[in-house]
Amino acid sequence: AVENVIFFENTTSTMDEAGKLLQNSRDLAHKTLIVALSQTEGRGRKNRHWLSFGQNIYASYIYLPKNLGPQDGLFVMFAGCIAVCMALNDIGVQAKIKWPNDCLVDGKKISGILVDVKSDMSFIEELVIGFGVNVNWQNIPEEINATSTYEITKTIIDRLNLLDKIMYYLFLLIKLIENNYKKNILKLWKLYETTLKKRVEIVSDNKKIQGVAKDIDEYGFLLVETQHGMQRIITCDNLRFL
Ligand code: BTN
Repeated sequence: AVENVIFFENTTSTMDEAGKLLQNSRDLAHKTLIVALSQTEGRGRKNRHWLSFGQNIYASYIYLPKNLGPQDGLFVMFAGCIAVCMALNDIGVQAKIKWPNDCLVDGKKISGILVDVKSDMSFIEELVIGFGVNVNWQNIPEEINATSTYEITKTIIDRLNLLDKIMYYLFLLIKLIENNYKKNILKLWKLYETTLKKRVEIVSDNKKIQGVAKDIDEYGFLLVETQHGMQRIITCDNLRFL
């Protein structure tokens, strides 16, 4: 559950605020949710900029896990995506997960999850799970290929209520990972995913790979069938559907 909430009208990034809190008072930071109304330096994966104005959700949850190995970071990202899809489902928005960290509705981005992990050789010490969810955002410019709950339902919704739902699901899912029910995370991921069986182009490590996304393996890596056989995608700069 959430034990503290820290609220900013504006900040650089809730990820930065989470990092500062962890540095200054690590024990208090555990289970703290940082929420901002806007961010000047919102970021996404691979240091991409995340537009952060409008009536959306910008939040980061700090969690000091027990018994998670460094390879579990991807599962935490999946948990974040599943939690967002479940919460959106509750309000009638059918979002789907695009591997590794996007939630889409009709091919348009409604949410992105960013996970900062600090780990030593054997354990994850700190997790910061960042959520950007497009909620009451109106008149989204066509060229950014995004959507919002408002665009889909045409109603303004209570953002804190949606965030509360996301946190409720996220916490249960993190507990599943901590208790080593990772197979269940993969099953849930498959309920909400929209990547498998599709032709994809992936840019990763300066290489371009094309093929059909066949499955994810037990670590959450994507298996893509290419002309040169099955390839296992561990990092990805960009994934696009062909
Ligand atoms: C992505 O799509 O690559 C992930 C985007 C994550 C954006 C959220 S908004 C709240 C938190 N603070 C940030 O600076 N980023 C995350």
